[in-house]
Amino acid sequence: VGRDVAGVAVGDTVVGHVPFAAPFAAGTLGEYVVLPESQVVAVPASVDPLVAAALPLAGGAAWILADAIDAQPGHVVLINGASGGVGRMATQLLAQQGVTVVATASPATTQRMYDLGAATVIDYTQGDVAKQVLAAYPDGVDALINLNGWALETVPVDAVRRGGTIRTVTQVPDDTALEERGLTGRQVMASPDGAILAELLQQVAAGVLHIDIDRVVPLERAPAALHDIEAGQVHGKVVVDLTV
Ligand SMILES: NC(=O)c1ccc[n+]([C@@H]2O[C@H](COP(=O)([O-])OP(=O)(O)OC[C@H]3O[C@@H](n4cnc5c(N)ncnc54)[C@H](OP(=O)(O)O)[C@@H]3O)[C@@H](O)[C@H]2O)c1
Repeated sequence: VGRDVAGVAVGDTVVGHVPFAAPFAAGTLGEYVVLPESQVVAVPASVDPLVAAALPLAGGAAWILADAIDAQPGHVVLINGASGGVGRMATQLLAQQGVTVVATASPATTQRMYDLGAATVIDYTQGDVAKQVLAAYPDGVDALINLNGWALETVPVDAVRRGGTIRTVTQVPDDTALEERGLTGRQVMASPDGAILAELLQQVAAGVLHIDIDRVVPLERAPAALHDIEAGQVHGKVVVDLTV
């Protein structure tokens, strides 16, 4: 931080989310970054900076998605793609609110999803997710947070009861598909501000929000780690440590 801003002094360890307009122009990995004040928040001393580094986009997206569906205690929410970085945090945030979370996962990550608060885990490798969900919840779920699937047939939209709601990070389902099923919803592009990040960091400091880090790599190993993410060999977050 070049000068003191609200709640942050020069020399503090900070995290922030680079707004969407900036990252591709500015470079997505770098030693220096320029951020608006509103996006920057100090990392509490009790939180490992490497853990804090894994928080902003995944945690912020989880917070914004969980907030957007307006789930109430007792509601049933399906998270498709729950075992990734965003989904693990959304699972925890919703479970803490008394929501029944139905999480998708592969066998490798199933137990972890139960540990994080999922009530039911659906093995997405065992075929149609919507059918599996409806077998367990015949009335359908109240809401879907969709983190996976770029074609309608791969998004478990039919698991949602009529009148339910969907938030998706992919472009499906579109308005027509929603309307046909009597659903509301939209795509979400999360841009978490400092206030959201501060709240999430407090939860991490309090030990109620866990961030699963698959590995920490130096910059020169970042391309290999990105390749592993693409190949589905990463379970949780990858942190690039520019200090080593
Ligand atoms: N719009 C936004 O604001 C926003 C923000 C953040 C992220 N995103 C996007 O959201 C998506 C998820 O991000 P992430 O960081 O959580 O990803 P991630 O950490 O790479 O996790 C992806 C997870 O998807 C699971 N998966 C793979 N194939 C699946 C399938 N067919 N059905 C259900 N789950 C499947 C894998 O589970 P297993 O490990 O159990 O095999 C994996 O853990 C990405 O597309 C990302 O680009 C969007």
